[in-house]
Amino acid sequence: MKLLNELIGWIDARFPLTSTWKAHASEYYAPKNFNFWYFFGSLALMVLVIQIASGIFLTMNYKPDGLFAFASVEYIMRDVQWGWLLRYIHSTGASMFFVVIYLHMFRGLMYGSYRKPRELLWIIGMIIYLALMGEAFMGYLLPWGQMSFWGAQVIVNLFSTVPFIGEDLSILIRGDYVVSDITLNRFFALHVIAIPLILVLIVVAHLAALHEVGSNNPDGIEIKKHLDANGHPLDGIPFHPYYTVKDGVGAIGFLIIFCAIIFFAPDMGGYFLEFNNFVPANPMKTPEHISPVWYFTPYYAILRAVPPLFGSQFPGVVAMGVATVIFFFLPWLDRGKVKSIRYRGPIYKVFLTLFVISFLGLGVLGTLPSTPALTWVARVLAVVYFSFFLLMPWYTKIDKTKHVPDRVTSR
Ligand code: HEM
Repeated sequence: MKLLNELIGWIDARFPLTSTWKAHASEYYAPKNFNFWYFFGSLALMVLVIQIASGIFLTMNYKPDGLFAFASVEYIMRDVQWGWLLRYIHSTGASMFFVVIYLHMFRGLMYGSYRKPRELLWIIGMIIYLALMGEAFMGYLLPWGQMSFWGAQVIVNLFSTVPFIGEDLSILIRGDYVVSDITLNRFFALHVIAIPLILVLIVVAHLAALHEVGSNNPDGIEIKKHLDANGHPLDGIPFHPYYTVKDGVGAIGFLIIFCAIIFFAPDMGGYFLEFNNFVPANPMKTPEHISPVWYFTPYYAILRAVPPLFGSQFPGVVAMGVATVIFFFLPWLDRGKVKSIRYRGPIYKVFLTLFVISFLGLGVLGTLPSTPALTWVARVLAVVYFSFFLLMPWYTKIDKTKHVPDRVTSR
């Protein structure tokens, strides 16, 4: 013990070890009333680490080459020791990343965590979300199956609908006139190093912003307003040991579910790994039904719901883009007097519920082949989706809110 203390003392004289630990863990005060919904930030961090670690080992045996990519993935699955496990960890991790992130974002909507002073924290989160979408999209091309190939073909073609520069833009992305070996190579480079590097950097910025303003909580009350004699928030508790232990419980619960999927249902009935992707990419044969992986399908359904204009799909592409980036503006769309759903009036609750239904409904529709009837359902749901955001300045203002207590309630 004496030796350890001496070692720490030696390091502290040369590097801010103990002071960083104190500032961000043992003496970092977080609200005492965190609940289930506060598990997902630390879980997102854990999944990020899992993806990077499993990705490094997959890269050791994967070949980013149009001729060998599909076979190298099969080689990993059949011949590489524990290769099947690494691949299923990585493919399940991709889907679970989005499950965790969607729940993390939903918590933000419920408790108004995007509101002042956390606007920048939210914006950084949204940049992470977009980067994550790019990361998942490029990763999906790598197994070079039918869905990898045709999914990428469809999505990159969307860029060609942009007026004037579209054609050049899509060639710039592909590096070729069609999705090819060249596209596979550049997506590999972006997937294994460029985007992960950016992701790690913006996650660090996300946490720096979080520790600058402090966490929100289920009551939406700023705990920094009531301090004790030592300057610590009266409604706060040190992050370590209290929340390291709590987050540990969340991590174990998550890993049980994660392992159950990996060992018993790694393809999740075609939702985590699409069946058509077990067929090698064939540029001469378009699959009957092309659909992206489940986490993109709400936006895909919006794309298909918008009718083409003069034969161009551009309006749908714009709607899909707006549906994603509109989240950035939430801090300024919300005019409510209170942050947390606990003290909001009925109108916000109705709109949030309808929004969740529309998001899930569009998600389901995006996985199905489109029919005229389903397209109309998607149109109605898309209107509901956009109403949540566009009418927000109005309904949050007129909603009858409840009185917010001065101190957090320990529920
Ligand atoms: C790799 C992805 C991400 C990681 C690792 C991450 C990590 C974290 C962590 C550890 C926390 C604190 C614990 C918690 O409040 O749950 C947090 C809080 C927060 N995150 Fe993220 N996050 C990610 C993505 C996002 C995204 C996509 C958004 C929204 C667009 C977002 C918005 C927020 C907000 C608003 C808070 C504060 C919540 C509150 O205090 O109520 N994060 N994040």
